Amino acid sequence: LRHLLNTEGLREPEMLQILDTAESFLSIAQRSVKKTPTLRGKTIVNLFFENSTRTRSTFELAAKRLSADVLNIAVSTSSASKGESLIDTVDNLMAMQVDGFVIRHPEAGAAHLIARHLGDSALVINAGDGQHAHPTQALLDVFTIRRLAGPIEDRVVAIVGDVLHSRVARSQIHALSILGCPEIRVIGPQTLVPKELSALGVHVYHDLQAGLRGVDVICALRLQKERMESHRLPSLDEFHRRFGLTPERLQWAQPDALVLHPGPMNRGVEIASEVADGHQAVILQQVAHGLAVRMAVLTLLAGAAGGGENHA
Ligand code: CP
Repeated sequence: LRHLLNTEGLREPEMLQILDTAESFLSIAQRSVKKTPTLRGKTIVNLFFENSTRTRSTFELAAKRLSADVLNIAVSTSSASKGESLIDTVDNLMAMQVDGFVIRHPEAGAAHLIARHLGDSALVINAGDGQHAHPTQALLDVFTIRRLAGPIEDRVVAIVGDVLHSRVARSQIHALSILGCPEIRVIGPQTLVPKELSALGVHVYHDLQAGLRGVDVICALRLQKERMESHRLPSLDEFHRRFGLTPERLQWAQPDALVLHPGPMNRGVEIASEVADGHQAVILQQVAHGLAVRMAVLTLLAGAAGGGENHA
């Protein structure tokens, strides 16, 4: 792999290689080992056209713990705000001899465009493009499930909430399928679950109680208010009443089912604070695992110049 643009199209051995490599970086992510010289001499650019706390910070820390130099481009203060095109921005950064780009962009396909433009000359990682894909989030989620819930081939996983606007959900579905998850459920209101999901082999539920029955892992999703026109925004109270995860409703799933959330959370909307801070939630472990997974992705892509691409 030279670029990571989506989980769709990754082969199982490639995904397992990323997850196994991430295991080997956990000691650095958890600071029992400080750093590794793996990417010494490389420069990675964080190019974020949308806000981020977790993804941008963990990519920066991942690159630094691999001894790379990191350039953080704050798009609001860069010349992109004067109308410079994405490709011109990238070409100018390439003139500074950088080795890779981590890009988040509101338009689906932005990272693919850069990857096509650059070919093998620099690595490209999609850190979220519109409603399309967020592959490293899905990888850290399956890493978390594998570590804390056991083999994915034996687990029933439910993705709950605003699936329509979620790049995380799409990438999770592909990642779980590739790793042999026997049953993937999607639970949400009809207005927030796209019809074409059934074609991906997922089971769709519009009733939370029915959907959570027998589930081992619950992946809550953020209600993405910023991606909805105001007249389409559901009542937050009604959404919480029908689909919010509360301690009582967790009992509909398997005892001690894990609760994941990619963040940022709308407490009191898709998830009650008692659940977000409760013993079944692994939300902060996801963040910690994200650092190890992003170290793995950077290492494998940086070491694979001239290899194949994942343009899925
Ligand atoms: N999960 C996630 O992508 O969070 P950020 O938007 O904070 O990066």
